[in-house]
Amino acid sequence: MRTFLKVVGFSFCVILFYALYASYGIPQVKPEAPPVEEKLNLGSMTMDQFIALGDKIFNGKGTCTLCHNPVGGRAPILDSVASMAMEHLKDPRYKGKAKTSEEYIKESMVIPSAFVVAGFGVKGTNDTESPMPNVTTGAIGLNEAEVDAVIAYLQKKAGQEVTVKIPTGAPAGKDEKAAETAPASPAKKPEELVAKLGCGVCHKIAGQPGVLGPDLTKIGAARKEDYIRRAVLDPDADIAKQCPTGPCLPGVMPKDYKDKMTAGEFEMLVKFMANSK
Ligand code: HEC
Ligand code: HEC
Repeated sequence: MRTFLKVVGFSFCVILFYALYASYGIPQVKPEAPPVEEKLNLGSMTMDQFIALGDKIFNGKGTCTLCHNPVGGRAPILDSVASMAMEHLKDPRYKGKAKTSEEYIKESMVIPSAFVVAGFGVKGTNDTESPMPNVTTGAIGLNEAEVDAVIAYLQKKAGQEVTVKIPTGAPAGKDEKAAETAPASPAKKPEELVAKLGCGVCHKIAGQPGVLGPDLTKIGAARKEDYIRRAVLDPDADIAKQCPTGPCLPGVMPKDYKDKMTAGEFEMLVKFMANSK
């Protein structure tokens, strides 16, 4: 029995060694790959690097700028949200649990309806329901360290003291690493493509719950294929009238989707919507 345990123990150590070696020991060969190491090892990250990570997530994977941008006007600009936070906490409409600006920003990202900025709520809810998705779930799916990095970025941007701590040992940015190192292969299913492009952040489509743009689950019954095609290539060509948050506004839907899909993916997406009846 003892020999058996020794053999098992030894084998385990060998496997562990090779697993660690495979993960950390083999040098990155792709020359254009970004400095992945610093993301894997949050412990050795400086606050400036952590803030830069937050910047990158805010403007990229987090999809925040799809809504929080000066063009669309469908979500507030967040440049000074860290300093506005204390005022929102005193608002009689505030019904969350945050006490500090850090907690307020985190709560806004995870339970957006805890406080809805006046005028930005889902139509008919009297600003009690936010159209913003919980950014830790669904297609966005930020992990805790990524949420903290975004908070650090927003605090810095508002010229406030950065109060978040860099988490130690958390495997942050894993997904991001995979996304950056894996070559983008064309999506095979419409659901996959919709998730990749983030349409569900704003639309009810392919099982996703967005409410900033029209519900697309039955669009094929209302619109012809040509219309749908143009709506994606040139969103401002026709402006839908009714969005769940109120009258639809031009400029909210991104105009650069044509550069983000292959021709085949685009056809698949258009057909998928045309057949959603
Ligand atoms: C689908 C559009 C959408 C996306 C995507 C989105 N937001 Fe929002 N967000 C809103 C809207 C609309 C509001 C205003 C209503 C409210 O207060 O919830 C808001 C409010 C906020 C607030 C509170 C603002 C305040 O002044 O109190 C914060 C903080 C925030 N968002 C952060 C983020 C971050 C960070 C991301 C990305 C990780 C993000 N949002 C992604 C639409 C969006
Ligand atoms: C940031 C929010 C946002 C994102 C992300 C977004 N849209 Fe939109 N979309 C809108 C809004 C708002 C409208 C209504 C205004 C208009 O017609 O341009 C709209 C309109 C549309 C329409 C026309 C609907 C109609 O009945 O006229 C289609 C089709 C559409 N979007 C498809 C998509 C697809 C596909 C994606 C992903 C590739 C996508 N949208 C991503 C906000 C968004």
